[in-house]
Amino acid sequence: MNHRIAIAAVLAVTWTGAALAQSKDPTIAGIEKYREMLGDDNPADLYEMRGEALWKKAAGPNKVSLEKCDLGLGAGVVKGAYAQTPRYFADADRVMDIESRIAWCMTTIQGYSEADVRKRPFGSADKPSEMEDLVTYVVTASKGYKIAPPNSHPKEKAAFELGQAIFHVRAGPYDFSCATCHGQDGKRIRLQELPNLTKAADNQRSYIGWPAYRVSTSRVHSMQWRINDCFRQQRVPEPKYMSESVNSLITYMAVMATGAEYKGPALKR
Ligand code: HEC
Repeated sequence: MNHRIAIAAVLAVTWTGAALAQSKDPTIAGIEKYREMLGDDNPADLYEMRGEALWKKAAGPNKVSLEKCDLGLGAGVVKGAYAQTPRYFADADRVMDIESRIAWCMTTIQGYSEADVRKRPFGSADKPSEMEDLVTYVVTASKGYKIAPPNSHPKEKAAFELGQAIFHVRAGPYDFSCATCHGQDGKRIRLQELPNLTKAADNQRSYIGWPAYRVSTSRVHSMQWRINDCFRQQRVPEPKYMSESVNSLITYMAVMATGAEYKGPALKR
């Protein structure tokens, strides 16, 4: 099929939400094409640029930048650091994902209060949160690195196990778990293929594209957001921002994705 027609068809379906249930594989292929076409031109680049400027800007009550922040590979090392998270941080005595770690640096280095950092976790279409910019900057600096969370400290192992356990806990009015939607091959809700996140290969495919720029919301979303939104789909109360349960789920998925090459923020539906 002519690509332009395929893409037009995809956009019509995606953006009007029409007839989603009846869509078949050609539509999925069309989305892939659409992604390919925009691939070199990802609006996440803007977030990255803003994030870099924010990273280097003296800010907060202490009026210092985040350039001394230790993301796991030593103070000030941003390159490749995201690929080795979540990990145990001795100074905080807990396992943190990249977003929790940036928040940690904002409080310990820049002097922001916890409440400040938690105020606008996910931003909105008209006003992205600074966290989204910072996260995009930091993760993009791991492009081309292999996903390699350490998973050797007892607390890292415990986080993996907790994440795996939470993945299978059924809850809410429909008695869904993450595994209900993400525990089988070839499952799909409307247009979206659901990765089987009990398998390494699917975790790898999924993990290398998050955080992601979503065309449907015109925004970059972090992995914290992704999990939060899936808890919403599961119809259970959204967890506290950067909570241990969310960090554990991210640890589970990161460890499962070990070995895959990180691609930087992907374009998603
Ligand atoms: C009711 C079904 C449902 C449940 C339950 C659910 N999800 Fe999802 N999940 C989805 C859908 C639908 C998408 C795709 C959303 C989109 O593209 O907009 C998705 C996407 C994802 C993605 C991104 C996949 C990718 O490759 O982009 C991850 C990661 C994820 N879910 C993790 C989880 C976790 C962890 C849980 C449990 C806390 C969970 N999901 C519970 C339906 C669900």
